[in-house]
Amino acid sequence: MTQLTDLPAWQALKEHYAEIKNEHMRDMFEQQPSRFEQFSLKINDILFDYSKNRISQQTMDLLLQLAEQADVSGWRQKMFAGEPINHTENRAVQHPALRYLGNEPQYADGERIDEEIKEELKRVKALAESIRTRRWRGHSNQPITDVVNIGIGGSHLGPLMATEALRPYAIHDLHIHYVSNIDENHINNTLESLNPDTTLFIISSKSFTTQDTMVNAQTAKTWLLNKIQSESLLPQHLVAVTSNIQAATEFGIAEENIFKMWDWVGGRYSMWSAIGLSIVISIGSENFDDLLQGAYEVDEHFKTAPLAENIPVIMALLGIWYNNFFGAESIAILPYDQNMHRFPAYLQQADMESNGKGCDRSGQTVDYTTGPILFGEIGIASQHAFYQLLHQGTKLVPSDMLAPISNFLCIAKHHRALMSNIFAQAEALMKGKTEKEVISELTAQGMNSEQIEMLLPYKIFPGNRPTNTFLFYTLNPKTLGSLIALYEHKIFVQGVIWNLNSFDQWGVELGKVLATNILEEINAGQLVSSHDCSTNGLINYYMDLKPKNLG
Ligand code: F6P
Repeated sequence: MTQLTDLPAWQALKEHYAEIKNEHMRDMFEQQPSRFEQFSLKINDILFDYSKNRISQQTMDLLLQLAEQADVSGWRQKMFAGEPINHTENRAVQHPALRYLGNEPQYADGERIDEEIKEELKRVKALAESIRTRRWRGHSNQPITDVVNIGIGGSHLGPLMATEALRPYAIHDLHIHYVSNIDENHINNTLESLNPDTTLFIISSKSFTTQDTMVNAQTAKTWLLNKIQSESLLPQHLVAVTSNIQAATEFGIAEENIFKMWDWVGGRYSMWSAIGLSIVISIGSENFDDLLQGAYEVDEHFKTAPLAENIPVIMALLGIWYNNFFGAESIAILPYDQNMHRFPAYLQQADMESNGKGCDRSGQTVDYTTGPILFGEIGIASQHAFYQLLHQGTKLVPSDMLAPISNFLCIAKHHRALMSNIFAQAEALMKGKTEKEVISELTAQGMNSEQIEMLLPYKIFPGNRPTNTFLFYTLNPKTLGSLIALYEHKIFVQGVIWNLNSFDQWGVELGKVLATNILEEINAGQLVSSHDCSTNGLINYYMDLKPKNLG
């Protein structure tokens, strides 16, 4: 493949950037009254307004040429066909097959997969409905009141994010908890108020070897056995979701309580699989079907829409425009919906674990920037945290704002104020405030020329800070499924253009290996000298001061 930076479109974009980089969006909007219509798209009830970007039609044309020259369509076809595009692990990437609702057979690495997907989903729904209808009973014949999902990364973030986002759809007398951190406070804080007789644990781990999860799983098992005494009663309180059936069986999970996931689903793309069991328990099978439906409809849009009207493609290209031409190194995700409070954290793994790489598909070190630093917080809270930097900082931080037109209760005095903020902040970031406007404002406040001269530089807002705005009617399961799939495919398109394998994660291995070695040294209880002087110093300082009575 031609090196990305040698592509004709890349060269043309570099020249175009030099021409457009100082143009202000304020002027673009003044000159183009139909800019909103020109640069917004819809899919179902989701409006994607990308007009507050530093683009012209020529920009979009050149970016679309880049997508064509990088063969986005070809790689898209490979993914949906189940080809092993995760080449370093020789695996297909088939999370879309988990929500596929069409009639075509689905394949991964040449194997048909749609039947087993449907079979596993049926098992998941059966368990969830058995728990929700209180047919599932614990060892003392009481219904389950609390479900604890033990997992981390993709086995945690997606289910947690979706369960929180869909709180209005959750069953009321059944509480879902998530434990991920190996810090004992996480599981202890969770279990301290629970009753082993009415608690069910879901051990969610694709590998069933992740240390954080396995330590927590053992603690949970011990907690159960302290009360229920017999291992034979564990199946009523312990299920697992994994691709490592043998390890789950060896841990003591009854075969009928093991729910399968597959190697051709990446952890950060797995909430559509049995990893989503806690979501199904929380919102029920019909709502989970709607979640899948929303993602499926975006898959079809992504597969079929012309690139120029393809929302994930546009999202991806805008990100590349700022990342690779404006030098922006981060992107902010700002949901103006309290229930989406875990959405940025979910996208951090999805985006940064997929494209936080510097080695391209041919094993060469890239000579261009790749995955951005993704951060975010719910909209209003972030206005009182880091919007100062977004408005007047020296860094360009493109932002995505998302909001429901109608949230569940829609209490006017709350929701109208919320919505006024998302509209105002996007406008302020785009328009800024000029010297002239500041002077007239301070003059009107009665300040004298000396006071105005002093304050003026601090009150000017440069503006020209880009935002995308997603408005949707309400955050229901189908809309959430669509929003997640839009970002999944955006990440895919950016990975294709940066010529990365977005679906392995070798970068997480080194830390885990070193931690395993250091844990052995700590357990040995001797002072260490095998590391650099800083690591030796830190470990020995800890060893000297750590509480002696701890196991
Ligand atoms: O962070 C590394 C990682 O492998 C993620 O990709 C994955 O989602 C997480 O750890 C948990 O892995 P598992 O589901 O195998 O426990």
